[in-house]
Amino acid sequence: MEALQRKIVNEGIILSDTVLKVDSFLNHQIDPLLMMEIGKEFAERFKNEAVTKVLTIESSGIAPGVMAAMMLHVPLVFARKRISLTMSEDLLTSQVYSFTKQETNAIAVANKFLAANDRVLIIDDFLANGQAALGLADIVKQANAEVVGFGIVIEKSFQNGGMLLREKGYRVESLAEIESLQNGQVQFLNRQVEELL
Ligand code: G4P
Repeated sequence: MEALQRKIVNEGIILSDTVLKVDSFLNHQIDPLLMMEIGKEFAERFKNEAVTKVLTIESSGIAPGVMAAMMLHVPLVFARKRISLTMSEDLLTSQVYSFTKQETNAIAVANKFLAANDRVLIIDDFLANGQAALGLADIVKQANAEVVGFGIVIEKSFQNGGMLLREKGYRVESLAEIESLQNGQVQFLNRQVEELL
């Protein structure tokens, strides 16, 4: 998705060989028009999958998730990372290990928001090691619902999340695939940065 790749080149800040900061349009401030285009693109790619629900995880998955859900005319459910006081109902939970933070945390979705006949599109902002994505798929499985695929805004192809998910047979659609962040430069898997300048 060219508009997204251009935004990454123009506004992304490379913090290290593995971390890209995109808080001007995705992780802190949000660009609503870009987010709408992202939602349209996910809806187009998954239009034949009879999606009944979009599932993401708070907080940065919510903006692209809600746009995809709006375009697909289905609800968005987001997994919580902190169990709130009002979540007194039955919960589906999964343990997610973060390589970055080196800790395991529970994520949770109320049982009543996922049904056995749901066809679920999982959306997230970043795909790095894939642990959050696998946790979300686990929650869908516990509901006896089906994962139709993953829609990822930015996949870091040099980390193994994409491989893990594809090896399990999941369809993964990533709108920007980053091959490398080495030497302070973004390299996409299928596009030369020069084409975007
Ligand atoms: P994993 O789920 O793929 O295993 O990811 P990991 O534990 O390594 O990452 C933890 C958090 O960092 C996640 O967000 C993830 O989306 C984000 N992240 C991973 N790589 C990058 C990156 O290169 N740039 C940015 N900006 N974020 C990255 P989170 O802590 O859940 O944050 P939020 O959704 O509340 O914003």
